[in-house]
Amino acid sequence: MKNLYAPIRARVTRIEELSENVRLFRFKKDRGRFAKNHGGLTFIPGQFVMAGVWGYGESPIGILSSPYEDSFMEILVRKVGVVTNALHRLNVGDEMTIRGPYGNGFPISSFEGKDVVMVSGGCGIPPIAALIEYIIQKRERFGRVYLLYGAATPEDILARKRLDTWGRHINILLTVDHPSPEWKGHVGLVSEMVKDIEINPLNAVATMCGPGPMMTALERILRPLGISDRRIYVSLERKMQCGIGKCQHCVTGDSYVCIDGPVYNFDEIDKNWD
Ligand SMILES: Cc1cc2nc3c(=O)[nH]c(=O)nc-3n(C[C@H](O)[C@H](O)[C@H](O)COP(=O)(O)OP(=O)(O)OC[C@H]3O[C@@H](n4cnc5c(N)ncnc54)[C@H](O)[C@@H]3O)c2cc1C
Ligand code: FES
Repeated sequence: MKNLYAPIRARVTRIEELSENVRLFRFKKDRGRFAKNHGGLTFIPGQFVMAGVWGYGESPIGILSSPYEDSFMEILVRKVGVVTNALHRLNVGDEMTIRGPYGNGFPISSFEGKDVVMVSGGCGIPPIAALIEYIIQKRERFGRVYLLYGAATPEDILARKRLDTWGRHINILLTVDHPSPEWKGHVGLVSEMVKDIEINPLNAVATMCGPGPMMTALERILRPLGISDRRIYVSLERKMQCGIGKCQHCVTGDSYVCIDGPVYNFDEIDKNWD
């Protein structure tokens, strides 16, 4: 019988220090490539893996790399506790463990033919990054695409090199609270950039991350743009253990975030964020 909890062995092939507490890890399977189980994709943007280190446990972490890539995956890990500290102690060549991909991901086929507005802060870039990579490969199938990205300082803007590449295909509006002397971009609230966005609100979808930034995004950006709650998608974070609907650690309302989420339609979720 197949053991659903058995992780696969993966090997770290690249580590990038993105900020004091955040590292990007690229890893490959010890044997073979990642399976393209989702119509040519290795995962659906918005899905996560259970990433771990033998002896320390596993954590749910969103996948950042392109879903078309099958030779490696990338994750971005913020150091907060036991597992994420263990991941940060890994070096290139070390072994880590992976299970998944899990969760529902964004309803990507329903995004086609529409304008897309993605609102993100440092915390929410992994699922958005994978979604952008997906959109860029099929760019002609989408309308106007915007990424609104706010960070405390220019150093807190993650995946900066990727932003330059994405900027050739989609509109990127960046802002920081505290600029450095070299910073030439916008300073202030993400919401101040709403005036620079041109979309058809009746044919647009939006994604955002939260919970704090989520409410700001909703009230100051998405509502003024006229995008209805029915077409706003959020990715929730809950503590998880199994990742596959067995342990109940991730239950919110009557939903299991690991299998029914982590992506929810904003109209359908309990808004009592914790
Ligand atoms: C679907 C999903 C996607 C995620 N994607 C990413 C990602 O791309 N990058 C990333 O760095 N983190 C991500 N997280 C959060 C990550 O799972 C937690 O930070 C991690 O599990 C903490 O484990 P730890 O053993 O290091 O911390 P612990 O030692 O378990 O706890 C340290 C602190 O973190 C809090 N914490 C633990 N688990 C979570 C959790 N799941 N959500 C929020 N707070 C938690 C604890 O309450 C405690 O305060 C995601 C979570 C989910 C559910
Ligand atoms: S993490 Fe175990 S049921 Fe969701």
